[in-house]
Amino acid sequence: MLNNRTRNMPEIKINSPNVRYTDNYIESQYTYHTTSVSKNGETYTVTPSSTPFTFRTRKAVAKLGVMLVGWGGNNGSTVTAAVLANKLGLTWRTKTRIQRANYYGSLLQTSTVCLGSGPDGEVSVPFRDLLPMVHPDDIVFDGKYKQFYFGWDISSLDLGRAMERAEVLDWSLQEQLRPHMSQMKPRPSVYIPEFIAANQSHRADNLIPGTKAEQVAQIRKDICDFKQKSGVDKVIVLWTANTERFCDVIPGVNDTAANLMSTIQTGGEVSPSTLFAVASILQGCAYINGSPQNTFVPGAVELAEQEGVFIGGDDFKSGQTKLKSVLVDFLVSAGIKPTSIVSYNHLGNNDGMNLSAPQQFRSKEISKSNVVDDMVRSNPVLYSPGERPDHCVVIKYVPYVGDSKRAMDEYISEIMMGGTNTIAIHNTCEDSLLASPIILDLVILTELCQRITFRTEDDPNFQTFHSVLSLLSFLCKAPLVPRGAPVVNAFFRQRACIENVLRACLSLPPQSHMQLEYKMQRSFMHNQAVHSSEVPKKNAVHSNGYHSLQCTCTNELKTEQNAIG
Ligand SMILES: NC(=O)c1ccc[n+]([C@@H]2O[C@H](COP(=O)([O-])OP(=O)(O)OC[C@H]3O[C@@H](n4cnc5c(N)ncnc54)[C@H](O)[C@@H]3O)[C@@H](O)[C@H]2O)c1
Repeated sequence: MLNNRTRNMPEIKINSPNVRYTDNYIESQYTYHTTSVSKNGETYTVTPSSTPFTFRTRKAVAKLGVMLVGWGGNNGSTVTAAVLANKLGLTWRTKTRIQRANYYGSLLQTSTVCLGSGPDGEVSVPFRDLLPMVHPDDIVFDGKYKQFYFGWDISSLDLGRAMERAEVLDWSLQEQLRPHMSQMKPRPSVYIPEFIAANQSHRADNLIPGTKAEQVAQIRKDICDFKQKSGVDKVIVLWTANTERFCDVIPGVNDTAANLMSTIQTGGEVSPSTLFAVASILQGCAYINGSPQNTFVPGAVELAEQEGVFIGGDDFKSGQTKLKSVLVDFLVSAGIKPTSIVSYNHLGNNDGMNLSAPQQFRSKEISKSNVVDDMVRSNPVLYSPGERPDHCVVIKYVPYVGDSKRAMDEYISEIMMGGTNTIAIHNTCEDSLLASPIILDLVILTELCQRITFRTEDDPNFQTFHSVLSLLSFLCKAPLVPRGAPVVNAFFRQRACIENVLRACLSLPPQSHMQLEYKMQRSFMHNQAVHSSEVPKKNAVHSNGYHSLQCTCTNELKTEQNAIG
């Protein structure tokens, strides 16, 4: 397997006595600062506290196998094709240019984090370089393992034909991928017609027979078989199959792990996605839910906690909701009051057809509805207790647009002195091309979290993150969090959480963006020229206004300013 060095990626070494590199681990000493707040009458008392932590990250990156449920769908076939195309370094001719395979849209592969300042200004590196991580090209999806089956689907179509059915990728790319993809066939899966729309029944020709208990046993066998034949170290299972209807949470049926297990034995109501979750958890495989339904009934969560297995979800945050978690964050944090948010979508892929049934639409509506709650709650100046903006979500099925979903949003906000600000957005989301990099980020981040342990000073034993892996919130529409933990939907808080946790593993302080060294009369950084009266270095960039000019010396800057002024 290739690691960062053999891929010519930069390696990051932290020059600090708080970081120790051993053969197997990166160990960091980190002080976590937090505050507790109490209110007495009109007085808030804020008490800061610091907790010393030791973080330990195992350096050896696993050979990762990913098994997708719904492998033959638009997302499943697209993510597989994208990994293959990147791995093979494919290029293809589009209407306008030669296109090269890439991973645009992946937080880990194509976004960057700032390490700090160097002689030429800020230094940023790809997120993936912060800590040792699986590279998506190394995830086991490879035509050479043609006798292996990497996922399940109730539709028996091979992945070559599934890719064609999805109508997502350019034809000339499909032609290059087909010889590889057509070797891949999904394993039979669990079909319980009442959970997905009746309009899906024609696809269901590839089914695991038997009782629910027998079906769970078969899924467990499938995972073992894949692991053995492919030689991967770990398997992560991810649901990207159709949206199911919600399950009722019923005491005695699915409210505890024991009740859920006995319901599986007796054949009571358990959704296919929960059967997959149970099988994965029992195999010790992390399980991620990319769809909106409540797969993680309380019994499934308890089972994951008992087995010490990660679970994450729900519902990929790809297009409209991602934008909403940015836009409402922006509005509310700027002191503007959103009062009405109306989100209308139409899409024409198989997901859209499934969502045209009322119960499946209801699952999506619930998952899309709560995305503004934390931002609204965070601002008691704008919203009185219990007050929320009107929020309406509509989804329509329009076959002609295929995978190219249209999302139209109208945000009406109250501004100063009774004014109104209306923002209308038309967003063409190529659905599966937005969801595929999120699938990769979800599994790669989960694999990394499996290698991170930590302890506080008072606790001799290292622990892992909670089984409900809320660090994945950034990638999910309706983030699953441990009982009692706050749900964060705000985009930039979610991103900062991942970045800062990874920085903690390197004993780096949280990214504060304070840049105090550039805001002082007398800098405390003696080795670097940061004082405003010093001559700017060659090519130093001062952002905004006249200062945005690239300047080579103070005089040139003045001359250029005069010319403009
Ligand atoms: N941008 C996005 O594409 C996006 C964003 C968020 C969530 N999602 C969710 O991801 C899921 C997949 O989306 P898609 O566009 O790939 O849908 P799709 O309909 O193209 O694919 C779903 C696949 O699941 C299969 N399937 C259904 N039930 C199954 C079962 N019990 N076991 C195994 N396979 C089963 C179907 O045959 C189909 O091939 C949907 O629930 C969708 O709501 C997608």
